[in-house]
Amino acid sequence: MVISGKELSEKIKARLAEQVAEFPATYGRVPHLVVILVGEDPASQSYVRGKAKASEAVGIKNTTVLKPADISQAELLALIDRLNKDDGVDGILVQLPLPDHIDEEAVIEAIAREKDVDGFHPGNVAALWMKRPCTVACTPLGIIRLLDEAGVQISGKRAVVIGRSQIVGLPTAKLLLDRNATVTICHSRTSNLPEVTRQADILVVAIGRPRFVTEDMVSPGAVVIDVGVNRDPETGKLCGDVDFDAIEPKASVITPVPGGVGPMTIACLMENTVGCFLRRVSLK
Ligand code: GUN
Repeated sequence: MVISGKELSEKIKARLAEQVAEFPATYGRVPHLVVILVGEDPASQSYVRGKAKASEAVGIKNTTVLKPADISQAELLALIDRLNKDDGVDGILVQLPLPDHIDEEAVIEAIAREKDVDGFHPGNVAALWMKRPCTVACTPLGIIRLLDEAGVQISGKRAVVIGRSQIVGLPTAKLLLDRNATVTICHSRTSNLPEVTRQADILVVAIGRPRFVTEDMVSPGAVVIDVGVNRDPETGKLCGDVDFDAIEPKASVITPVPGGVGPMTIACLMENTVGCFLRRVSLK
């Protein structure tokens, strides 16, 4: 079964749109998401456009702030500080990666935790690992939503995550653990990787290398979630970290690229923005 993240993301956005339509009557306004893009990286520009488009579909107010690549760190931090203090702003997202002269960690930490729709702030990350209320990073959340939608039982299963990034690998592993999977995290130094991945009932791949996972690395009936967004070195087309054509007949469930995890990330960003809005208005 190929599971369409695109379809599920449309359902989630439609549900959110119904909810947001009630907000002006209840709270006097709609949620406001501010997205900051530094520089002109084409992939980042495309992601930011996707976020604006999804906001529009859901009825969330979106402001995209474009800054030149040579903006100073102090200037960027001052902008974030203004947005933190702006009562009419519910979510702040700084598109990553940032230019080399800017300390990404300092920027992420500068965003008020309650407006951190990405779930990257240390306060949110710590809360996730301590099982306290928090905003969860959008891609890991989208992966769990996809598994649930596909009817995949997580509890008691062996899950293998390839990739240990702060944004995807680590939080995904934690969410799977919280759903009672037995989780192994693999990375570039894992020895005998195929032997480990063949043990997986659920295999999540977030390594960023085109078609890294080959058919021999997957056991029959496995659930395969492909987080990769790569350019095929030969055709230039988008492709995942998984050799989809070879693995699709063998897997019980697999996500395509594009149209799998990517749209779910954006839908979960919308969900997180509504969540931050609701927590802020309910505190008043
Ligand atoms: N760059 C790639 N993925 C992400 C994401 O989820 N959030 C932000 N802010 N930047 C990214």
